[in-house]
Amino acid sequence: MQEKINELKKRIAEAIKDVNSSDTLFQIKMKFLGKSGEVSELMKGMRDVPKEKRPEIGMIFNALKLWAEEQFGKLDKAIKEKELKKQYAAEAIDVTLPGNTMRKGAYHPNTLVKRELISIFAGMGFTVFEGPEIENDYYNFTALNTPADHPARDMQDTFYITGDLLLRTQTSAGQIRVMEKQKPPIKILSPGKVYRSDDDATHSPMFSQMEGLVVDKGITLCDLKGMLDEFARKIFGDGVKTRLRPSYFPFTEPSVEVDVSCFECGGKGCRLCKGTGWIEVLGAGMVNRHVLEGCGIDPDEYSGFAFGMGIERIAMLKYGINNMKLLFEGDTRFLRQFKG
Ligand code: DAH
Repeated sequence: MQEKINELKKRIAEAIKDVNSSDTLFQIKMKFLGKSGEVSELMKGMRDVPKEKRPEIGMIFNALKLWAEEQFGKLDKAIKEKELKKQYAAEAIDVTLPGNTMRKGAYHPNTLVKRELISIFAGMGFTVFEGPEIENDYYNFTALNTPADHPARDMQDTFYITGDLLLRTQTSAGQIRVMEKQKPPIKILSPGKVYRSDDDATHSPMFSQMEGLVVDKGITLCDLKGMLDEFARKIFGDGVKTRLRPSYFPFTEPSVEVDVSCFECGGKGCRLCKGTGWIEVLGAGMVNRHVLEGCGIDPDEYSGFAFGMGIERIAMLKYGINNMKLLFEGDTRFLRQFKG
């Protein structure tokens, strides 16, 4: 029996010699010390041992078991320590490394310009009205003194939804909605998206406009000019002047194109102003009598001026953007350059 035990001890020592994972060690332990392991099997041989010898053999067995438990225990502790060290090493965090910073979002240049415009005009007493993007022919054209056969309709390639419904081509449509409901004095600003079948480096099928309308007693072109000067200084910088050139829009009479003196070269002539010293920024004029009349406002008692500008155009000028597509592509490498 002693021999068998010695032989078993040897085999246990041999089996655990090179083990280095706690799982494998556990399996080996079960093989020897488990319920039907080799040690238990050997103990079953006790039945054949004569009674008087049993206490002695029993002690030997117990010693064997204690010895084996100790071997496994020691090794298990060592392996677990090693495994834990490995895990700690793998999970180590170098707290001195720079962190993964979250980039802060920024407002779109269109939004920045729109907000700046609203803030400039709000300072002059304007309030904001937003009309619908899907309009009736009436608001977008007819009421703006542009009946069905009017050649000015060709100036704007319109997206029609039905014969009467369309995507508004100009925020001027909002003027009518305001004048129908509100009687003078009127001083509103109407920003929003407009749509035209037009697509190149300076045109997009969808873009944004900012409309302005003032109606009251005794409003003249001088009021328009004074207000535009103030607007130009605030948005493009001190020293910027405006000039009016005769133009044509069906809903204003007289109509003007408004230029600002080139804020890049101060008027001397450069690439931005194409050598002219002036940059065109918006259309404007005195509200046509027919338009006032159509909205139930007496043109002999009241007069008004209106203006409309492209927000993208202002943004492109202000920030030196040369392709309008950049404003619609949503490329964050471009957009993150703007802070507001
Ligand atoms: N609606 C015009 C356009 O889209 C711009 C415009 C011109 C608006 C003159 C006005 C105005 O209010 O008076 O081209």
